Amino acid sequence: MAESRNFGKGSIMSFILFFAAFLASGGSTAQVPLLMWSTKSLPSLTSPPAGHITSMEELAAYLTPVFGSGSNTVLLFLQDKLSKDDFTLFGGVFGNKQESVFRNLEAALQSSSSSVSFPALEWTGESSIPTLLQQKLGAAPLLVDPDTLSHLSLNTSINNLLIINLPYSCNSLKSCKEVLSNNDEIIGKVLSSLKAKDVSYTAVYTGLQPSQAISMSPLLNKQVGRTLLQAPTADVKAPIIFTNASRFPCIMLWAQNLFISPPGSSGFIDLAKENASLSGSMCNSTNSELVLTYVNYTLSFTMSQRFYPVSARNWFTLDSVQVRSSGQNASFVGSHGIYAPAEYSFHCQSVSSFRDTLLVPANQDSTQWKLNFVEFQIQGFGLSNGTNFSYASDCAGFFTAGIWMGLISSLLMLLIFVYGLHMIMQLNTMDRFDDPKGPSISVPQSD
Ligand SMILES: *[C@@H]1O[C@H](CO)[C@@H](O)[C@H](O)[C@H]1NC(C)=O
Ligand SMILES: *[C@@H]1O[C@H](CO)[C@@H](O)[C@H](O)[C@H]1NC(C)=O
Ligand SMILES: *[C@@H]1O[C@H](CO)[C@@H](O)[C@H](O)[C@H]1NC(C)=O
Ligand SMILES: *[C@@H]1O[C@H](CO)[C@@H](O)[C@H](O)[C@H]1NC(C)=O
Ligand SMILES: *[C@@H]1O[C@H](CO)[C@@H](O)[C@H](O)[C@H]1NC(C)=O
Ligand SMILES: *[C@@H]1O[C@H](CO)[C@@H](O)[C@H](O)[C@H]1NC(C)=O
Repeated sequence: MAESRNFGKGSIMSFILFFAAFLASGGSTAQVPLLMWSTKSLPSLTSPPAGHITSMEELAAYLTPVFGSGSNTVLLFLQDKLSKDDFTLFGGVFGNKQESVFRNLEAALQSSSSSVSFPALEWTGESSIPTLLQQKLGAAPLLVDPDTLSHLSLNTSINNLLIINLPYSCNSLKSCKEVLSNNDEIIGKVLSSLKAKDVSYTAVYTGLQPSQAISMSPLLNKQVGRTLLQAPTADVKAPIIFTNASRFPCIMLWAQNLFISPPGSSGFIDLAKENASLSGSMCNSTNSELVLTYVNYTLSFTMSQRFYPVSARNWFTLDSVQVRSSGQNASFVGSHGIYAPAEYSFHCQSVSSFRDTLLVPANQDSTQWKLNFVEFQIQGFGLSNGTNFSYASDCAGFFTAGIWMGLISSLLMLLIFVYGLHMIMQLNTMDRFDDPKGPSISVPQSD
């Protein structure tokens, strides 16, 4: 009697749901799951009764015809630990495909000509599955490193048993997810390198031993309920920090994009993607200059601060922004729009030389250049030995054009309404009416 279900071209989805059904019926003996897929067709299995545990003998009996004829190349993905709970926890059940860590595995199962799964295989020792495969194939196992697999030459006219060890060491839900996701990448890599060699194979994914039943407490600590299925935000890159000779941070700059477009070029180049050298930068108590030297361009920001008696405080201005490339220079004046109290930083969603202009070209040649800095933040003074920006003074004032337009049109309509109301209130009914039965109104006319 065969204990496993053959999903044929089945997807791992049904496999996972099948596992989920198993969760309640956790047997007393230790079990590991085993997934098998192949480029040739595997013999099918009759459906097992739910909750049945496949014994090693039953697996051996199933494998005999599989490897009985011809030469086989078997890939054994041996993960240090594995249990069906890993599939239910990390498999992205309920159609949450984005959350699944087994993407390459799922794809391989779907694209292979046939696949078979043994959700609960009796576990009898660490070496039982490798030994069994070794016996069935009559080939010595070859431990392969996924990185060097592409250089390995396989003699496909004999049986090969390639073992790929996958780690499984984690202590939190998040780290388990990472480890499994890395393993899945390795599986994808190995399979695609075999595909590139055009080798037909049978692959087996299983665990050296059952993974510790992952305690459900991390799940309970997690926020339960509906969560947005948004992609995790990418890591925020570090700001550019210039430190003075005595290692005090004195200029900081952060920008999501530093787009520049030299004369005659149609597109923009994003300098924020490249690494810059800061040589040539300087700072003292009144002036700061940040010079960013990229491969083909040099971008420099000159700032100064001084005391303004009217507001009784120091303000800094971004006096100029200069771009230099081989033979071409451009200079922009920023002091009209880019200023902040000296102890603050300046932030703007978009600092541009052509739209809502904050950077004014300083000469005729500079008008040929286009600059656009997205999510730009700069601070040249008052960093006080910290590597955090101070409070940001934002370029967007409270009253934006949109707010003004809304305000003015509402006020205009209110005015018209009040005028109309006023006119209506001015209307009086007549105090006397003409009565046809009574004497007509006589207007005495005395000349
Ligand atoms: C592959 O193995 C067979 C059987 O051992 C042998 O005859 C053949 O020469 C081998 N081929 C290569 C390319 O090594
Ligand atoms: C560096 O900056 C700190 C703090 O602004 C200042 O005290 C120090 O004198 C500066 N060092 C040099 C060499 O300019
Ligand atoms: C700061 O540097 C600028 C430019 O190099 C210089 O003109 C100015 O005198 C310096 N100020 C101080 C206080 O050192
Ligand atoms: C720098 O300019 C050269 C020549 O125009 C170009 O080949 C190269 O890709 C540029 N490098 C970068 C990083 O833009
Ligand atoms: C400035 O920061 C550095 C590193 O964080 C620290 O070693 C140093 O003592 C600090 N200096 C002052 C004056 O706070
Ligand atoms: C900088 O900000 C981070 C995160 O807000 C904070 O943990 C850190 O203590 C701050 N550092 C300083 C020197 O204020």
